Formats: sequence, structure tokens, C-alpha cells
Amino acid sequence: MKTPIDKALVDGIISELGIQDFAKATIREVKLTASIAEKKSGVEFIKMEMGIPGLPASKYGVEAQIKALESGIANLYPNIQGLPELKQEASRFVKAFIGLDINPEGCVPVSGSMQGTFASFLTCSQCDKKKDTVLFIDPGFPVQKMQLQVMGVKYETFDVYHFRGEKLGPKLESYLQNGNICAIIYSNPNNPSWICMTEDELQTIGTLATKYDAIVMEDLAYFAMDFRKDLSTPFQPPFQATVGRYTDNYILLISGSKAFSYAGERIGVTCISDKLFHRHFKDLADRYEGLPFGPVFSTRMLYALSSGTSHSAQFAMAAMLKAASDGIYDFRSDISEYARRAHKLKEIFCRHGFHVVYDKDLDQPIADGFYFTIGFPGMTSGELAHELMYYGVSAISLVTTGSEQQGLRVCTSFIEDHQYAQLEERMKIFEENYK
Ligand SMILES: Cc1ncc(COP(=O)(O)O)c(C=O)c1O
Repeated sequence: MKTPIDKALVDGIISELGIQDFAKATIREVKLTASIAEKKSGVEFIKMEMGIPGLPASKYGVEAQIKALESGIANLYPNIQGLPELKQEASRFVKAFIGLDINPEGCVPVSGSMQGTFASFLTCSQCDKKKDTVLFIDPGFPVQKMQLQVMGVKYETFDVYHFRGEKLGPKLESYLQNGNICAIIYSNPNNPSWICMTEDELQTIGTLATKYDAIVMEDLAYFAMDFRKDLSTPFQPPFQATVGRYTDNYILLISGSKAFSYAGERIGVTCISDKLFHRHFKDLADRYEGLPFGPVFSTRMLYALSSGTSHSAQFAMAAMLKAASDGIYDFRSDISEYARRAHKLKEIFCRHGFHVVYDKDLDQPIADGFYFTIGFPGMTSGELAHELMYYGVSAISLVTTGSEQQGLRVCTSFIEDHQYAQLEERMKIFEENYK
């Protein structure tokens, strides 16, 4: 069987790197295998494993950040609650694009959503000693489980694949009724599958979070990237879907990384609902001088972690949010490039015998966007990831994301124009080899 890259060469690299099961290979291992294979074979790889932005950073952010630095703010510690302009603009942005009211005091800058989830996990898991476990609606972002491992907090998880729509409520309740769940987390749109929860599903999550007093951590890392909807016009529906319409127990994690291609500066905002921000939890108050949830989050967790968030990056984030809410910066039009790429890539894969694994939100096909998932009949995740290496295509297995489905996550962010023809040619050979 002829393949674009010699099998023995790829297998040699994999065994030299000590990767025993390709299904469990980390992103870094897949990347390393691809880059060594590329160098040794001289065949360009189509790299789909990394989830990092492939577009230039927003100019609104860059200009504001340079200006802030030149004005001499770099020597000053930022306010631990966050730059007032950023808090104000985050609150306004939430109103403009999500349609929710959250006071500026509850909008707290963080060093990327990563830090937002870390501080949220810490705070949520200390509210009530009986509630010591986080529930993941998977598939999900593996680093968040690592964060819990680092802090020694337990978690449970289920793959939502078979529990969409009306099946979601009973499944969630089967965990919540045990009384040990402090927080529920999912991303929307979802990394890796790009499914989006429907309004009914969000209502189910919100209602049950209220009933069982769990806090929903809604990870909006891919903010407004459900490209099926026109979410571009500030202060006008349709809005970014959110659980915040159905419960007061919520934290929204908004990231600058993907929506504004600002990943390098590590900036995001964590938006805590007004009710949750002011709520007193006995166990939390006993531990932190009587403080309510919001001030524990900022003056204890964030202060202990990093004493706040890079000062100049906060100016950048404030400027990007402001320009978006003012209607002069259509950030979605820049990032919709990812949707165009996904559309073309899906078409090529599907024409050659692959299928989209997480293909629908109930009866609606999923949106095109930053990621999608592919499978090939008769192949496990590990086999497919390994096989595609012979064709110069690198992607990560769904196993690492808490999914029980067989397939791979494809990221569109690094695809270049000339690579569609390459993919077409290589997947044609793949199909012929496995027919
Ligand atoms: C679902 C999800 N959450 C959070 C993050 C991290 O965001 P940030 O760069 O703001 O820390 C990512 C980044 O890939 C992600 O995919």
C-alpha cells in the first residue's frame, strides 16, 4: 500500500518518541511527530492539531496596548479587581452581545480564561464542604481537568453525544442528586466538537443548577462563533446563547484569545452574575474573613495566583470590547475565516469516506468554525490518528477530550490556501487504500 510518507519512517519516529498508544498522544507529541516526519520526509504536513489562532491580533488591541505602555503604566501593579475601564466595557459587551445585565464589579480580568477557570474551580470547590466535585459536560478542553488534578479537586464527566435534548436533564440529574457537585462546566461552541447547546438544553442546565445549587461555568472561549447565527450587531438579537438566561448561578468565561486573536497576551474576563457575586457561602466565609463569592474570587484567588492581570493587556481588552460594542469593529467578520476553512475541509473529508462525528445539534447540522470532528468507518481514534500521519495529516484523537466516540479533532486555524489541493490529493489515496 503506497502512502505519501513512508510508513516505516513515521513508525520509527513514533517508537523513538516512546508513544505507545497514538490515541492517548498529547497535542505536543502529535506536533513533534509531525514536525520530525516533515523534516525527514520533505513532505509538507497539513497541521490540524494545535488550537491556536491563525489570524493576526486585533489592531484595536495592539494599538491600545502600545499606547498604554508608552503612557508609563508598566511600573504600576494593576488593580486586583481589574482596570475600571475594562470592567465597564466588559459589562457593556455582555449586554451588547449576550443580552445579559452583569454589573461591572462582577466582570473581573484574568490572565486568559485558563486562569479564570482555575480561580473559578478553586472558589466553587470551597463554597460548601459537601460539594467537592466538578461535573464536565464533555467532550472538553483537557487542560481544565489537569487544573483540577493540580489543585486536588475531584471531577466527574460524561460524553454528551448520547445525551442531547430531552436526555440531557435526566443525565445531569443523575449526578446532581448525589449532592456533591459544586460546578458544571462546558464550552459553547464546544472544543473539540463544535456542538452548541440549544436554548432548551441551556434552560435544562440552568434550571437544574438552581434546583441543586451548583454553579455553571460557561466557557465562551469561542465567543459568538456559532456562524449559523448573525451575532454581529451589538445590542440587537440574536445574542450569544447562554445559561445566564435560565439561572443566577453562573460564571461566564470570555477570552481574548480566539475572538480577538489575542492569545499571546493572556487576557480574558470572568463575568460573575450579580447574585452569585454577592452571595455568602458559609464555608467560604469561614475560610476568608466573611467575604462573599466575588471578592473571594478576586482578592483571594487571583491575588494569590498572580496579583492580577497584565496591566497593558487590560487596556487592549478594554479597547477591543469597546470597539466591538460601539459597532466599529466587526470581530466576527475576521474570525469567520475559520468557518470558510471548516466548510471546505469537511467537504473534502466527507467526499473521501470520512464522516463528521459530532454532526448535529439535535436536528440541525453543526456550525462551521474553529474545530470539527472526523471519523472513518472501522477505525478507532488511535488508528485513524496514526494512519493519517502516513498521509502528512496531523490531528488529535478524541480520547483525550473525554469523548467516547471514535474520531479526531480537526482544527482549521493553520490551514493555508494551497493545502486544500494537498488534502484532496492525499485523501483520495487514503480512500483508495481503505476501500
Ligand atoms: C474551551 C477552551 N477554554 C479555554 C481556553 C483557553 O483560553 P485562554 O487562552 O483565554 O486561556 C481554550 C483555548 O484553547 C479553549 O479551547
